Amino acid sequence: MKISSAEFVKSAFERSHWPVESMSEIAFLGRSNVGKSSLINSLLGRKGLARTSNTPGRTQSINFFKINGSFLFADLPGYGFAKVSKTMRAGWGKMAEEYLFEREELVLCIQLVDARHPPSKLDIQLNEWLRHHDKPFIVVATKSDKLSANDLAKNLKEIRRVLPAAKILPHSAAKHKGNDDVWAAILAAVEK
Ligand code: GTP
Ligand code: MG
Repeated sequence: MKISSAEFVKSAFERSHWPVESMSEIAFLGRSNVGKSSLINSLLGRKGLARTSNTPGRTQSINFFKINGSFLFADLPGYGFAKVSKTMRAGWGKMAEEYLFEREELVLCIQLVDARHPPSKLDIQLNEWLRHHDKPFIVVATKSDKLSANDLAKNLKEIRRVLPAAKILPHSAAKHKGNDDVWAAILAAVEK
């Protein structure tokens, strides 16, 4: 995928902040620290465009990026970080659900799970929600570089069993591996 431009558009803390461009949009969803921002940077070949951090739960807004002037990425806040307050956790659910429900431009959800671990309860809940509401989605298993080929294959099988999805793609932002397959899914959704 040739990226001629990739720019940060804005951070949205509420619905009235959502961009009004009406371009196709891809959402990145997953627990705190799973690697959403890193995946975005890896796909775009831009190191610090989406902010990454070692402190989970840092991103509390939906961050929008415009790619090649023609479609948007939405980096959603991570869920399931135990240390944030209950109100904040409820806030996540409300903001994410409102977005997923109402955003007409949404053409693909990318659900991220950590390739090293079995999906969590919240991962399973999100997956059920996406299927229940007929949202187009794929699953990306992040941090694949931290596993041997054998363990990765084993874990992908388990992820596939627990999270039914049309596509489950391994990815490593550290090694920039798996970008082509994720791009193929994104472009298929954008061009539909
Ligand atoms: P929040 O914004 O807090 O929800 O986190 P996030 O899902 O955006 O995660 P982020 O991209 O900030 O990555 C979290 C940590 O995991 C960072 O320290 C990254 O460097 C690391 N990380 C992300 N992807 C990979 C990967 O593919 N391989 C390795 N080894 N580390 C990764
Ligand atoms: Mg992030």
